[in-house]
Amino acid sequence: MKKRVLVMGSGGREHALAWKLSQSPQIEKIYAAPGNSGTAQVGENVAIVAEDVEKLVEFAKANRIDFTIVGPDDALAAGVVDAFQKAGLKIFGPPAAAARLESSKAFAKEFMRRHGIPTADYREFTDCTEALEFCRSAKYPLVVKADGLALGKGVIIAQNLAEAEGAVRMCLEDGAFGAAGKRIVVEEFLEGVECSIHALVDGSSYLLLPDCRDHKKAFDGNTGPNTGGMGTISPSGSVDEALRARICREVLDPFLAGIQKDGIAFRGMLFPGLMLTAEGPKVLEFNCRWGDPETQVLVRRLSSDLLPLLEATADGTLAKERPEWDARVAVCVILASGGYPGSYKKGQVISGLDTAGELEGVKIFHAGAKVVDGQIVTNGGRVLGVTALGANLDEARRQGYLAADRIFFDGIQRRNDIGA
Ligand code: AMP
Ligand code: GLY
Repeated sequence: MKKRVLVMGSGGREHALAWKLSQSPQIEKIYAAPGNSGTAQVGENVAIVAEDVEKLVEFAKANRIDFTIVGPDDALAAGVVDAFQKAGLKIFGPPAAAARLESSKAFAKEFMRRHGIPTADYREFTDCTEALEFCRSAKYPLVVKADGLALGKGVIIAQNLAEAEGAVRMCLEDGAFGAAGKRIVVEEFLEGVECSIHALVDGSSYLLLPDCRDHKKAFDGNTGPNTGGMGTISPSGSVDEALRARICREVLDPFLAGIQKDGIAFRGMLFPGLMLTAEGPKVLEFNCRWGDPETQVLVRRLSSDLLPLLEATADGTLAKERPEWDARVAVCVILASGGYPGSYKKGQVISGLDTAGELEGVKIFHAGAKVVDGQIVTNGGRVLGVTALGANLDEARRQGYLAADRIFFDGIQRRNDIGA
């Protein structure tokens, strides 16, 4: 029997997942909650936000949903997986207790220390005086992190003591990140290139996906404030077979052994952000979900069906899966609203989507975008992800930017050096 699937979330990641799932011969219907103008092209949007756990359970029961896929971290932290499992509904994603590996940086650091996973040296503080004392004798730069989820804004790289003091006081005295910043992690600054790793984990095995590189800073040349990600490439070009094996040996094998030893019921996506340092790969953070815009390039490169991979992860049968990957390079260029990651206008009419989407190898994913009176308008910071496949990085970039050049809305902002 064909399946009815629900995708939770409303970003480019969710459009990318829903688009890929829409190609599955096993799927009858896709719902997205709340979705965006992109998910509406491949399924039906349902006006329930990802944190409204009770309503989602009700919806899934009433509409005979066979399988649900969770996109965002806050939905995981809100316990949506726990609620679905309790109601006997099949769902992709870790329960809240396991998703703490993302929602508490202190918990993640303790986990890594306990299980010998390479990461930056760190100390954890709730007391401002103690934290400041530590900062006075530390080496710089120094990294100060709010413990909880802070929309990517909770990480401050302090170049000197004054900046570290400012960051510590902002979290522990001024409560700038609310409860998320009442505990902080202060860690050593790591040098190297960054790389995003994705591995499906089913509790007893894992499956490593191709590597990606995100571009987190808002502006060209890695300048400006941190964002959720302004563009990605896959593969990253920094991970050869030997390094892939090392990442498995030093990060993923001990992760798997660690969750088993600690009794953490982790089934879902593990997405470690890595710094490739001179001493080897070190984990900057764990995410317990698909990355965005990483997902947008990963689904372009997956040439086999996505549904069996997600179901096998939820069922604990991942070991028998053999996905197929496109050897070509994928690029994603994010088109954002002017002002992002700060404040920005919404409701700007988007033009050029059709002519851009016609280009060879191009697929455009919608993020902060919605339909109003038959027109697609901006509705968030990151608005669109323009993806392209090419025989090599140059070709993928050329095609991606050719498509991006055809799209316009008032205030459009993008980086011109994704993959450069
Ligand atoms: P996180 O949310 O922990 O991944 O941090 C966000 C970004 O801050 C990372 O993508 C890195 O660019 C940077 N970052 C975090 N921790 C460190 C570190 N220990 N050393 C250098 N850069 C870091
Ligand atoms: N692109 C980084 C993230 O999804 O956290």
